[in-house]
Amino acid sequence: MAYTNAATEKHIVEVADLDAGHTVLVLGPGPGVGLRAAAERAAVAIGVDPSEDMLRLSEQRCADLVRSGSVRLQAGTAERTGLDDDSADVAVTVNNVQLWADRRAGFAEIARVLRPGGRLVLSVHEAHLSVTRHQLAAEAEAAGFVDVQSWTWDPPGMFAGRAVQLRGVNKKDGAS
Ligand SMILES: C[S@@+](CC[C@H](N)C(=O)[O-])C[C@H]1O[C@@H](n2cnc3c(N)ncnc32)[C@H](O)[C@@H]1O
Repeated sequence: MAYTNAATEKHIVEVADLDAGHTVLVLGPGPGVGLRAAAERAAVAIGVDPSEDMLRLSEQRCADLVRSGSVRLQAGTAERTGLDDDSADVAVTVNNVQLWADRRAGFAEIARVLRPGGRLVLSVHEAHLSVTRHQLAAEAEAAGFVDVQSWTWDPPGMFAGRAVQLRGVNKKDGAS
């Protein structure tokens, strides 16, 4: 994963347009390539993953950033991150949504932890998605995201499959 998905992880961090003041939730960081890229651009990146093995791999890849406090790691899922309300500016999730037990609960949880006006950026292998990108966008809108856009992106490399990507803004508390 660290190699096959690296281009997508880095690309989606670029799409997220992070700045040095941001707190970023990275859902399902796996081996931590995108987590590291996010932490290098933001104030803090919080990796939430249910797998102890994946949390350990992320910790190894980001050891220096864990020590400096710009990477935090905790066990959790998309449906139950363990983060406080309104505590993140941006949520990034790559090749993860296909594993959520309940997408409606996952989008609602992300909306809860994002501050008003906070942003969600998502990427997933198109082949792993059981709904169309338009249906996925509608699910995000149902959870309270606005200005939702979805598109496809072809990662570099002969064997890298097409990705569906999506971004939206958390409308909570009247943000537009
Ligand atoms: C296919 S890996 C992708 C890792 C990395 N984002 C990448 O693209 O290389 C999926 C990750 O999501 C985690 N995961 C599984 N179920 C999850 C859930 N319900 N919520 C959040 N993460 C989950 C897995 O443990 C794993 O680290």
